[in-house]
Amino acid sequence: MKPIRTKRLILRNWEERDRDLFFRINSDDRVMEFFPFRRDRAASDALFDRLRAGIAERGYGFAAVEIIATGECIGFVGIADTSLEPFLLAGTVEVGWRLAPEFWGHGYVAEAARAWLAFGFEEIGLAEIVSFAVFDNRRSTAVMERIGMRADPPGDFDHPNIPDTHPQLKRHVLYRLSRETWRKQEQAAT
Ligand SMILES: CC(C)(COP(=O)(O)OP(=O)(O)OC[C@H]1O[C@@H](n2cnc3c(N)ncnc32)[C@H](O)[C@@H]1OP(=O)(O)O)[C@@H](O)C(=O)NCCC(=O)NCCS
Repeated sequence: MKPIRTKRLILRNWEERDRDLFFRINSDDRVMEFFPFRRDRAASDALFDRLRAGIAERGYGFAAVEIIATGECIGFVGIADTSLEPFLLAGTVEVGWRLAPEFWGHGYVAEAARAWLAFGFEEIGLAEIVSFAVFDNRRSTAVMERIGMRADPPGDFDHPNIPDTHPQLKRHVLYRLSRETWRKQEQAAT
C-alpha cells in the first residue's frame, strides 16, 4: 500500500520492527478485554504475516499506525474485507482498530479511521463501510460515533464464533456509514 499521512500519523504496511508491538497488543489483557482469547507469540507472528501479505496484495487492511513525530508504531487501524453470514454479507468492508493502551486518549484512532474512510469511499469507491464491537465496548463504539458512523440496532447480532464460555462477549452492535452520508458530513465540516 501507499502510505497515508494524516496530521500526526503515517498509516502503512507492517515492518519487521513492529512485531513486538503487534504481539503486545494481541496478548495484553486491557487491549483484549472484549476478546475471548489471547494470542501467543507464534499466533501473533502468523497473523502479522497474513495482514502484511494481504495489505501488500490489496492495498488496504488492518495497517500499522506510526506517530510521525517519534517514529513509534502504536497499533493498527484499517479497513478490511469481512463477512459473517447471515449478519455481514460477502463484500462487506469494515473499519477496525487496536492500539497499545498508553496511546489511548489522544484521538489517534479517530484521526487514522477518518483517513481510512476517505480512502475507502474516494479511492476504492465503496458504497458503505461498517464497524462492529462487543455491546459493552464503549471505547470502540465512541470512536464509531466520533467518525460519523451510526448505530443500526436491527443489525445487532450474537457473534457465532464467540464460545458459550464468554456469554458477555456474544452480543455485538453494528454501525454503518454510507458514502452519501460521509460526503454530506465532509461538506458540512468544510
Ligand atoms: C477502542 C480504542 C481503539 C479507542 O481508542 P481511543 O484512543 O479512545 O480513541 P480516539 O482516538 O478516538 O481518542 C478519543 C479520546 O482521545 C481524546 N483526545 C485527546 N487529544 C485529542 C486530540 N488531539 N484529538 C482528538 N481527541 C483527543 C478524546 O477526548 C477522547 O478521550 P475520552 O476517551 O476520554 O473521551 C482503544 O481503546 C483500543 O485499542 N481498545 C482495545 C482494542 C479494541 O477494543 N478494539 C476494538 C474492537 S471492536
